[in-house]
Amino acid sequence: MKTISLESKILVYEDRSEIPADIAALIAQAEEAAKRAYSPYSHFSVGAAIMLNNGQVVTGNNQENAVYPCGLCAERTTAFAASALYPEVPFSMIAVTAINPVTPLTEPISPCGSCRQVLYEYEQKFGQPIQVVLSGQEGPVYHLRCVADLLPYTFHAGFLP
Ligand code: THU
Repeated sequence: MKTISLESKILVYEDRSEIPADIAALIAQAEEAAKRAYSPYSHFSVGAAIMLNNGQVVTGNNQENAVYPCGLCAERTTAFAASALYPEVPFSMIAVTAINPVTPLTEPISPCGSCRQVLYEYEQKFGQPIQVVLSGQEGPVYHLRCVADLLPYTFHAGFLP
């Protein structure tokens, strides 16, 4: 018998003045996208911004629905839009943030499992790590070097026939 350990590293910017300019700019675009979210049911607005290898940035946000399961998270809305617009261009980085209008978020948002799986698909498709930058309304910002670090031991296309 043996044990397998899974380890992920997160770079933490405790002070936002430490954040490199290109990353800060992507966070700012995610923050603007969060303000455009359609979240009349949860009142929790999430924004994402994806930087592509061609320099384009695609933004998106959560889209809710009166039939709750029909809604979609910001990360998937944005990833699908980016892939629909630029199917052959790898993603280099995604920034995700959120607005809780009642209790401001003091820690970075944590993407749900389905969004992690969707982002992992594009990481695998292009064979290029997608950096992940997570922030709240205040407090530290987390920076992961790839989606796989957010979703270790993932199901992937290699299992399929
Ligand atoms: N949501 C996102 O858009 N991204 C996340 O990472 C977590 C949750 C959305 C889904 C729903 O519209 C609202 O936030 C509350 O769960």
